Amino acid sequence: KDSSQPENSSPESLPSHQLPEELFWEAVPLYQHEGFWLPRGLDTQLIQAIQEQFQARDDDVLLASPMKTGTTWLKALCYCIMTSIREGDDDDEVGDLLVKNNPHDCVPSLHLINSTDGVQYPFSGMPSPRLYHAHFPYSILPESIKNSSCKIVYIARNPKDTLVSLWHFYNKFLRPNQPAFPLEKAVDSFCRGVFRFGPFHEHVIQYWEESKRMPHRVLFLKYEELIRDPKGEVKRLASFLGRPFKDEDEVEKVLWRCSLGRLKELEVNKNGKIFVPVESSDSKKGIPNSAYFRLGTVGDWKNHLTQDMVERIDELTREKFEGTGLSL
Ligand code: A3P
Repeated sequence: KDSSQPENSSPESLPSHQLPEELFWEAVPLYQHEGFWLPRGLDTQLIQAIQEQFQARDDDVLLASPMKTGTTWLKALCYCIMTSIREGDDDDEVGDLLVKNNPHDCVPSLHLINSTDGVQYPFSGMPSPRLYHAHFPYSILPESIKNSSCKIVYIARNPKDTLVSLWHFYNKFLRPNQPAFPLEKAVDSFCRGVFRFGPFHEHVIQYWEESKRMPHRVLFLKYEELIRDPKGEVKRLASFLGRPFKDEDEVEKVLWRCSLGRLKELEVNKNGKIFVPVESSDSKKGIPNSAYFRLGTVGDWKNHLTQDMVERIDELTREKFEGTGLSL
């Protein structure tokens, strides 16, 4: 069977163990559900429970992304924009939860729900307006989110940089004392669409199409644009969220609070860990927070990928994005 093609025909009633499987990077078990590769722990029963039971509120804000496209940055930015942190002084650390918490702890992720009984936890207790995240493709989101008027902010990134970022990330915590996973194999897996919550290109296209269909509800951001014009993009983000900035000073403060340089040096991000029950192959070990902060640049792929790899990914991207008006 060709595992590169999304299988929109996967019968929903099939239990996860009867759906196509892959051991991603020879370490993380994934299965293919409705054309997307999901972590084994997020089985079909759990997905169904989340889809049926999760109750969105109209003033919720959902942040959505594939892996390694700038999720951590987006979480920090939206968290600052939506809370009073943005009004504090530069050196006011009292109200700044980012000082003691990794952005992933401030903005919980839907796909980290790990029990069919606990689908509303910790979301039901959150005061409105709630801010949460999902790596889910649009097609897998709960209907309640799709049918509400909640806003969705999506962040995408150049596929080659996304892949290189993912390669560093997994090498750091899946293979801490081993040689890096062969990059050729990582590229092959990416190009066959085997990417957690991917295929990458289909994930991006789904949200891109929704952002064109409902621009008032879905904001489509690009990591490269945020790097190129942080002030302009963050203003656009804040306005979309209905929280425009008072002045330039506020914009600068938020950018500083969320900057890679600052977050990376905080104790919590140097030595803390994040526990992701359904995602990690060895969940008890956790993922070091430091793995979420690396270079934060555009074009690092040039330092890693061979010409053949570049051509393979570029060709795939051209083919997939053809006619969509999307470029990354
Ligand atoms: P690199 O590995 O290319 O450096 P995600 O948050 O979706 O896991 O994506 C991780 C990528 O975003 C990493 O890219 C990481 O360095 C970068 N990143 C994390 N925090 C950032 C920030 N505050 N500003 C800019 N980039 C950030």
